[in-house]
Amino acid sequence: MSHLLDRAGIESVVLEQRSREHVESRVRAGVCEQPTVDLLRELGLANRLDKEGLPHSGFSFRFDRADHRIALTELTGSAITVYGQQEIVKDLIAAGGDIRFDVSGVAVHDIETDRPRITFDGGELECDVIAGCDGFHGVARPAMPAVRAFEHVYPYAWLGLLASAEPSHHELIYASHERGFALHSMRSPEVTRLYLQVDATERIEDWSDSRIWDELHLRLATDDGFALREGPLLEKSITPMRAFVAEPMRHGRLFLAGDAAHIVPPTGAKGMNLAIADVLVLSKALTALLREHRQDLVESYSDTCLRRVWRAEQFSNLMTTMLHRPPGEDEFHQRLRMAQLRYTASSTAAATSIAENYVGLPF
Ligand code: PHB
Repeated sequence: MSHLLDRAGIESVVLEQRSREHVESRVRAGVCEQPTVDLLRELGLANRLDKEGLPHSGFSFRFDRADHRIALTELTGSAITVYGQQEIVKDLIAAGGDIRFDVSGVAVHDIETDRPRITFDGGELECDVIAGCDGFHGVARPAMPAVRAFEHVYPYAWLGLLASAEPSHHELIYASHERGFALHSMRSPEVTRLYLQVDATERIEDWSDSRIWDELHLRLATDDGFALREGPLLEKSITPMRAFVAEPMRHGRLFLAGDAAHIVPPTGAKGMNLAIADVLVLSKALTALLREHRQDLVESYSDTCLRRVWRAEQFSNLMTTMLHRPPGEDEFHQRLRMAQLRYTASSTAAATSIAENYVGLPF
């Protein structure tokens, strides 16, 4: 957001509650859509991404003990790039800007006026506008007086793992197995990122390394000799699966962007990309407001973003429900899910629909 504003000649201050070390090292998402990569390049922020990012022209659905590849580039002309969100965060911070880390006690005021204010421990800022890019647990959304929230909590969670091991396949594998979903992803030629569907109530202490590897081997097994490479687990965490949308995304001069306004379940790899789409729309709206005194893009900001947000919610829900086995699933619904997976993998029309959503619809 701050880099986009800087390009438009608009000054900004970033208030970050956490330390620089924390935001640079926290493992988050890993898939950049084509429009995300294009925007970072346009802003001159993609030098390291272009060197270290891993371009992928496809991924596989794995079910019935075999791979069914979705040929993203053949089907859409676009690709995705695997590059950790915290690597993007590092690059954005290194590129400069007025970022204050370890800021506590943040509160927003006077959002219905032309001079909204932010107070925090030891300081105060008088602003033209406030961009609430402060995540699901941030202070911006609760400060909006009339928000309608839409929410769905999925009855399972993801156990996320970082392994010091060469990836076992050159592409992502989304596996649907009778024991539950598993995902094979990566961060580099030496680091594998893996996920396992677990019960929503599961505790990390109950997942020993050997239990984790046993489960991964079972869910990722194929009949053509796929061999999962093991390595020391560097990180383990459990993430709940939630869909959430707040409407509208603006009140007065307070704007919400990214997780402050919406959460998608991670199966569609859309979360970071949606946040970047939001701030691109917001930077254009704020440029029109502050440089040309035009209200129109500010007024349409929420509707413009929500259209993309709901598209991503629908796609993420489709990927999630198609690939996960909910607790207590009856055989009728299990067979419906398999029918949908087989159709998606065998029909060019169905695969193209998945592919164009996955690589990212144009901003
Ligand atoms: C990841 O690499 O962290 C990752 C990849 C694909 C997803 C979610 C997460 O759908």
